[in-house]
Amino acid sequence: MLRRLLLKNRPEFVDRLINFADFQRERLRRKSALVPLSQPDFYRKLGETFKTDVDRLLQESRLREIEHAVEHGRQRLKANAAFGIFHAADPSMARLCYALCRVQKPRMVIETGVAHGVTTAFLLQALAENGQGELWSIDLPPLAEGADDQVGFLVPTELRSRWHLLRGRTHRVLPELVNSLSSVDMFLHDSLHTFRNVLMEFQTVWPKLPGGGLILSDDVDMNRAFETFGRRPGVAASFATFQGNGSSVMGVVLKSRDAGSAT
Ligand SMILES: C[S@@+](CC[C@H](N)C(=O)[O-])C[C@H]1O[C@@H](n2cnc3c(N)ncnc32)[C@H](O)[C@@H]1O
Repeated sequence: MLRRLLLKNRPEFVDRLINFADFQRERLRRKSALVPLSQPDFYRKLGETFKTDVDRLLQESRLREIEHAVEHGRQRLKANAAFGIFHAADPSMARLCYALCRVQKPRMVIETGVAHGVTTAFLLQALAENGQGELWSIDLPPLAEGADDQVGFLVPTELRSRWHLLRGRTHRVLPELVNSLSSVDMFLHDSLHTFRNVLMEFQTVWPKLPGGGLILSDDVDMNRAFETFGRRPGVAASFATFQGNGSSVMGVVLKSRDAGSAT
């Protein structure tokens, strides 16, 4: 497939090589020194930070509905998935996406890394419940026969009117997208979890986040990007917790209310 890609689409061929090299180089980087909070402490801190009862949001019937819809879609997908279901976000990450989107009531959300679309579906369900907002998603699908057609497979048809999907490596696509939008209220990173890529994505989106804007990230324990970024000026809070699977860590970064755009 790579050889075919070289003949058909040279820029994407190069992007995939760079992705691969970046991933390999990651082994040489310093490991994360992050100390995640326990889940109860994380949700307590989230509630204090947003002055909201997060537990109440996690009890919403719309959340249960999307959990069932996604699970149903996964069962249908199982037999003929073009790429591994292991790409999918952990349920605790998906629920956090829903809750934060309900708290923030964002008008504009960007996510990087769609795969079959677990986080996409939960974000869109929260936007639907809010009655406002759009989601832009960026994904360079895994290199596999039929993979393109399955990106966002789990997103129910009735949620797609608020959704825009862009294809490509985030290095190439994200800066242009961010430039075209006046503001981005919430950003989710779930694409390539390398130090270089995570930092690039955070830095690209940060100037367009208003004060109170939010970054959410999966797998923040894979390198030091999240910790490094969390220490920059204009960050009001940054904390993380283990996901339900216990093996990876998700984190949030909140921009100071008085930081405003371009800080
Ligand atoms: C962890 S999966 C995303 C999981 C998804 N958020 C979910 O909820 O199921 C990562 C996705 O990002 C894509 N990807 C990897 N590197 C990328 C890059 N540099 N730019 C854009 N997408 C990338 C992968 O092909 C894959 O589809």
